[in-house]
Amino acid sequence: MEFKSKIKTIEWQGEVSKVIDQTILPKEFKIADIKTAEEMYSAIKNMIVRGAPAIGIAGAHGVSLAAIELSKNISDKTEFLKKLREKANYIKSSRPTAVNLAWAVEKQMELASNLKGSIFQITEALKENGIKLENEDIEINKKLGDYGASVVPKGASILTHCNAGALATVGYGTALGVIRSAYAKDPSIKVFADETRPRLQGAKLTAWELTEDNIPVTLITDGMCSYFMSKGMIDMVVTGADRIAANGDTANKIGTYTVAIAAKYHNIPFYIAAPLSTIDISIKSGSEIPIEERNHEEVTHINGDLICPKNVNIINPSFDVTPNDLISGIITEKGILRPDFKISIQEAFNK
Ligand code: MRU
Repeated sequence: MEFKSKIKTIEWQGEVSKVIDQTILPKEFKIADIKTAEEMYSAIKNMIVRGAPAIGIAGAHGVSLAAIELSKNISDKTEFLKKLREKANYIKSSRPTAVNLAWAVEKQMELASNLKGSIFQITEALKENGIKLENEDIEINKKLGDYGASVVPKGASILTHCNAGALATVGYGTALGVIRSAYAKDPSIKVFADETRPRLQGAKLTAWELTEDNIPVTLITDGMCSYFMSKGMIDMVVTGADRIAANGDTANKIGTYTVAIAAKYHNIPFYIAAPLSTIDISIKSGSEIPIEERNHEEVTHINGDLICPKNVNIINPSFDVTPNDLISGIITEKGILRPDFKISIQEAFNK
């Protein structure tokens, strides 16, 4: 089919940000047109666009949309920049854990504040920069994918959690980028995808995009991973990340920590694949990473159906933090970072 991996998950066209609506996949494939900063805020919050690098680009486009709107009503540059800052902060507040969102919004704000030109020129520059970041994302993923492929054993069965694929980025993916690059060299590799409750990104998105690319994938429920590891059916684990602290502690979709513990117990290498924009060197350890608490309906309902007693207590953290000592390596566009991560992360930033 055509997507499919050829269409970008998020793409700037004219004055509009076009995103694949991930709330309805795999049932329907639709593109949503995002035309204002407010629409972008809600597309990120409601996960029409999701995944750390993808919401980074969404944030960058959100700033471009805000600039277009403000430039129509404001002629004073100081006032324009003040209002743009307010909109930027608003867009950043849509989701707290993935640092790529703040990273990309701040890249745009840095550009806007430093540019000497007119409001029109700033707005044009923001649009261009959004497109540049969009294209760089795919290049970065291909680079890190190729580094990652070098540690995939011949014929390996690889377990992944959540969706760190083309859909979670502009294209190609991080964890699935590693898998795509490995598959290109060795079509005998196979993937196990955790379904990833509560929102089922593994079942709905990872299984879908790998199937579209004809990469062999077996869908399992989250509780099955230790069983398959104990049977010798998993050779390595690779997941994405939402925020990595300076010491390598990594926040990713809830359940990742459990997979990492199981991998350690069974002596299976556990890798994180992420661009440097996911590393937050301003925080020392994972305990400083804000964890998003999401709507309880994600737990109480599946596809709109209540699956538990109406008034049962619910708690729904969307991410957990995998401690650095469970991580074999962090696959980035600057190479594979190894423990001691405090040192290797710093070195990657200095490269
Ligand atoms: O809540 P989501 O679906 O945005 O969570 C996504 C993940 O946890 C991904 O693994 C992470 O963002 C990395 S995506 C390349």
